[in-house]
Amino acid sequence: MSITVEKQADLKDPQEALYRPLLCKMVSVKELTPTEKLFRLERLDGRPFGHRPGQFVQVSIPGIGEAPISVSSSPSRGSYLELGVRRTGVLTGALHEMIQPGDVIGFRGPFGTYFDVDAMKGRDLILISGGCGLAPMRALIQYIEDHRDQYGKVTILYGAKSPIDILYKDELAQWVTSTQLNCQYTVDDVPEGTCWDANVGLITQLIPPLDIDPARSLAVIVGPPIMYRFVLQELKKKNLPINQIIVSLERYMKCGVGKCGHCTIEHLYCCMDGPVFWLNDVINLAGAL
Ligand SMILES: Cc1cc2nc3c(=O)[nH]c(=O)nc-3n(C[C@H](O)[C@H](O)[C@H](O)COP(=O)(O)OP(=O)(O)OC[C@H]3O[C@@H](n4cnc5c(N)ncnc54)[C@H](O)[C@@H]3O)c2cc1C
Ligand code: FES
Repeated sequence: MSITVEKQADLKDPQEALYRPLLCKMVSVKELTPTEKLFRLERLDGRPFGHRPGQFVQVSIPGIGEAPISVSSSPSRGSYLELGVRRTGVLTGALHEMIQPGDVIGFRGPFGTYFDVDAMKGRDLILISGGCGLAPMRALIQYIEDHRDQYGKVTILYGAKSPIDILYKDELAQWVTSTQLNCQYTVDDVPEGTCWDANVGLITQLIPPLDIDPARSLAVIVGPPIMYRFVLQELKKKNLPINQIIVSLERYMKCGVGKCGHCTIEHLYCCMDGPVFWLNDVINLAGAL
């Protein structure tokens, strides 16, 4: 699909920049799974997006719609932005089916809070993600890989539904063999006839064998809502305090800038106060976890 662009809007007014999409070019599209694709974008003006791991952008296609999508690449990798997108509805369906390298699409943002990579410095990190949660977690992992000497032991745990659903397979294989990382992954289920020689079972089973020093560790969790409760139970058994746990919470969003109220968790706006929270700030809020 091709969208004609006369001129990139020059958004000097910061208020206008919140609401009016800027244009960016689709540089590459790569299939990750039958339902997920990785899209690489560059701004038309060549400038960096200014994103940080954990943030999201509002992606739009004129005449079709807009959706919030997590940043999936670290700014330390270059001025481009990568998005891992599951085909679920109108906008994501159009991205998957219509958009080709060279096409122009819109984006607003980056928005929201981000993983506090400074607070993580010197800590042992336990990075736990399930399903599509690996999309934002990948941005953080790339950042840590690029600043590896600033962090202690790094453990990556990832769970997918089945082998076909595993995201970022090539990078996952590199993380598993890296001497700088301890990466393990598992699938809930293996369909009959599938060749598979890795773990089977829920991601929670990967936590008990870990050697975690609660005094110097910090955990980051990103995944489907059901995952949090069970992962937190396992981390509690390891005596990890809740003020050393970071979660990223996804809520239905529209504006992305604190105006529409679609994303609230009690008094918090997930689009602005989140999506990344310290666990102790949300654990007692109704419906947060
Ligand atoms: C902060 C944030 C980050 C996200 N990051 C990613 C990402 O990296 N990759 C990715 O593939 N998706 C991500 N999503 C989810 C994505 O925004 C939704 O799937 C989006 O609505 C799809 O737009 P659509 O027009 O294709 O779907 P629609 O046609 O709008 O909706 C499809 C279906 O999904 C439901 N839906 C819409 N939004 C949500 C939501 N937030 N939670 C649960 N159900 C929803 C709708 O009610 C409908 O049933 C993220 C969402 C948020 C809030
Ligand atoms: S998405 Fe509109 S207020 Fe958060």
